[in-house]
Amino acid sequence: MSRVTDIRYVGYAMPDMEAERAFYADTWGLQPVAADDGMAYFKAQGHDEHHVVRLRQDTVSRVDVIALAADTRADVEALHDKVVAAGCKVIFAPQELTSPGGGYGFRFFTPDGLPFEVSSDVARGDHRQMVRWDAVPQKISHIVLHSPDHKAMVQFFIDVLGFKLSDWLGDFMAFLRCNEAHHRIAFLPGPPCLNHVAYDVLTIDDMMRGINRLKKKGTEILWGPGRHTAGNNTFSYFTTPGGFAVEYTSELEDVDFHGHEAQVHVPGPQIMDQWGVGIGGPQTMPHPKADPGLFQPAGI
Ligand SMILES: [Fe+2]
Repeated sequence: MSRVTDIRYVGYAMPDMEAERAFYADTWGLQPVAADDGMAYFKAQGHDEHHVVRLRQDTVSRVDVIALAADTRADVEALHDKVVAAGCKVIFAPQELTSPGGGYGFRFFTPDGLPFEVSSDVARGDHRQMVRWDAVPQKISHIVLHSPDHKAMVQFFIDVLGFKLSDWLGDFMAFLRCNEAHHRIAFLPGPPCLNHVAYDVLTIDDMMRGINRLKKKGTEILWGPGRHTAGNNTFSYFTTPGGFAVEYTSELEDVDFHGHEAQVHVPGPQIMDQWGVGIGGPQTMPHPKADPGLFQPAGI
């Protein structure tokens, strides 16, 4: 069955692109990718995905696109057909992509109105073997979204895009996989918007040293450091200058893509955070509000 197999990049718009650009380049630890379209692109050093972040200046802060990978052009076309059959609004049908890295893909709005892209054949970039204490992102780990009907969105990602359910946390947070990683997408209740984008760092030491670098550069930790139960990954949350939440994570568990059986983690003390020594909590994360870009194509 044709399905999504990974996350490629997240495109954001914000009023102060220069501050956001400086954050990703100088503080968060991504590498600029050359482009001549007025937007800023960044890649992660530890993976050959062409780019993981795209920034565009605008008067509003919004998500422009969340780009996902499929294996082949045939998969892109089959997924497009499934998205159309599910009644989604298509932004553009499968075509040769003109963005850096090229490829073949289409864009659509989820039933909630968030813009997604599915693509294949995007050029691969350079990467290197990460080593302990690098303390910069290897690649995107996972993306968490809010939905007014999060159970319906979970079903949409399973039925239409080919994700599999990995775990529930109570009945309010679902974790979905599209490869061996325990989760690549997760859903929470709330107005349609992005909750956060997480980046894998090599080890827990890289996360702790990364926290130190961010603190020195004036970006305080929002929640963490801690270790979640679902996925068993460590976490530390921050916000970018533009107000988007981002995470360093390590040790997200691998599962058998086909055979892993979902379980329900009962909410309780030290379930969201098995250590319980960090600062903050879900209540210190940015308050979710509907993304201003719902059902409005970014146009680029
Ligand atoms: Fe996360």
